[in-house]
Amino acid sequence: MWVFGYGSLIWKVDFPFEEKRIGFIRGFSRRFWQGSTDHRGVPGKPGRVVTLIEDTEGCVWGVAYKLPSGREQEVKEYLDYREKGGYRVINVTFHPKEQDKEPMHDTLLYIGSCDNPDYLGPAPLEIIARQIMTSVGPSGRNTEYLFELADALRQLVPEDPDEHLFSLERRVRELLEETIN
Ligand code: SIN
Repeated sequence: MWVFGYGSLIWKVDFPFEEKRIGFIRGFSRRFWQGSTDHRGVPGKPGRVVTLIEDTEGCVWGVAYKLPSGREQEVKEYLDYREKGGYRVINVTFHPKEQDKEPMHDTLLYIGSCDNPDYLGPAPLEIIARQIMTSVGPSGRNTEYLFELADALRQLVPEDPDEHLFSLERRVRELLEETIN
């Protein structure tokens, strides 16, 4: 069983796995459109975390993990719990970055689709940036989530031009600078 991570599963790997591969999926784009009331915000003051939206031209880079043989269900149950804030599981085809590896069908991913109760949807960049700047939840600051994800992706896939993610990172860093000065 393989699970594709495109958000916190890239940088917060608190689950066992047997193998991991960097790669991408097609047909989606990553957006900070999912509300978080259990990790990076609280009920009534949600943070913003990533989900995927359907986009025929889109391509999302991330990391696929092979869950440990014999313990797949146990680890999957842990991930279901961790991702309980509006995410459901779908199957996708994962394309490993390594040229010699075949696409992997039936890779699982957690998605917060637009019908889940925590979904927030689109908003101007400035609004999203300010919401991230001021949100905090049981897992910590929303800014940590954004910066960890941006750092991890820069390292893993320097060629990934995720404009939405990196422009948000830039804007939140600017706003933080303004607050300090
Ligand atoms: C998540 O797993 O969806 C979020 C984890 C975190 O924000 O620390």
